[in-house]
Amino acid sequence: MTFPADRPRRLRSTQAVRRLVAETHVRPSQLVLPMFIAEGLSEPRPISSMPGVVQHTRESARRAYAEAAVLGLGGVMLFGVPEHKDATGSGALDPQGILNLALADARAEVGDDLVVMSDLCLDEFTDHGHCGVLDERGRIDNDATLEIYGRMGVAQAEAGAHMVAPSGMMDGQVAFIRSALDSAGWASTGILAYAAKYSSAFYGPFREAVDSSLQGDRKTYQQDPANAREAIREVLLDIEEGADIVMVKPALSYLDLIADVRATVNVPVAAYNVSGELAMVEAAAANGWIDRERAIDEILLSIRRAGADIVLTYWATEVAARLR
Ligand code: PBG
Repeated sequence: MTFPADRPRRLRSTQAVRRLVAETHVRPSQLVLPMFIAEGLSEPRPISSMPGVVQHTRESARRAYAEAAVLGLGGVMLFGVPEHKDATGSGALDPQGILNLALADARAEVGDDLVVMSDLCLDEFTDHGHCGVLDERGRIDNDATLEIYGRMGVAQAEAGAHMVAPSGMMDGQVAFIRSALDSAGWASTGILAYAAKYSSAFYGPFREAVDSSLQGDRKTYQQDPANAREAIREVLLDIEEGADIVMVKPALSYLDLIADVRATVNVPVAAYNVSGELAMVEAAAANGWIDRERAIDEILLSIRRAGADIVLTYWATEVAARLR
């Protein structure tokens, strides 16, 4: 008969011991709140597939920026939902376009107290719903898209973005945007690159959130979920091109990549806890099948434990308020 010499349970015996030895923490400053600001709404509109998340009016968004600052969040990531879309996504370049107006509102509200970030992609602005413009045969025109991204980055910097976040997975986008920003005098505007972004079913609810008109899929530009080495290639390219922060997206089915990327690079690593990941938890909780708060805490902890320094999550405000 042998009793154990080593007893790991000692370090789990009380809440105080568990707190003392916890290896990972989630802090408000590590959380970034993604927000949707829609043109032409008179009041915030709930997004049915994302319980608790709304399309904001400019006014309701302003209250949310202020709240995020008071709660000490790391930042906000803004998405614009324009009323009118066209083939080239011209609303993205217009200083009076909804996203650029929202960026200006955010800076007026919070100044430098929060990091104001901007999604830099055309899919919310194009009538075909793709992240880039199309050539005469209907294929994504990578390099014509870069020209627009460069101008979009400058428009967002002028509107007030501290950091722009290219999410279109076009080759060379970070280098192109970096040089456009630098030549326009915005050398201090940062780039958070959606470096390893997968073609994922977990973006489903987001399509409702931005009134997406996408037909088809994004498989010629977003990554294949089967590939891990390719993510490292994408991340290293983005860093070489000038990314200040690299992101893995989605988070939960890609925790292995968050860990690999964290071990490989010397810049901050972000991960995006996406719309479908929220929807699954909210749906199960609404049915009484899981404990909602515990599930949220466990998910955010797992993304941090995997190696993400920064987590984009629709639960950012709620969790930060609970942490206080
Ligand atoms: C593209 C973009 C998407 C998301 C963030 N930026 C959608 C897509 O690539 O299809 C998804 C975010 C989420 O699902 O929460 N601009």
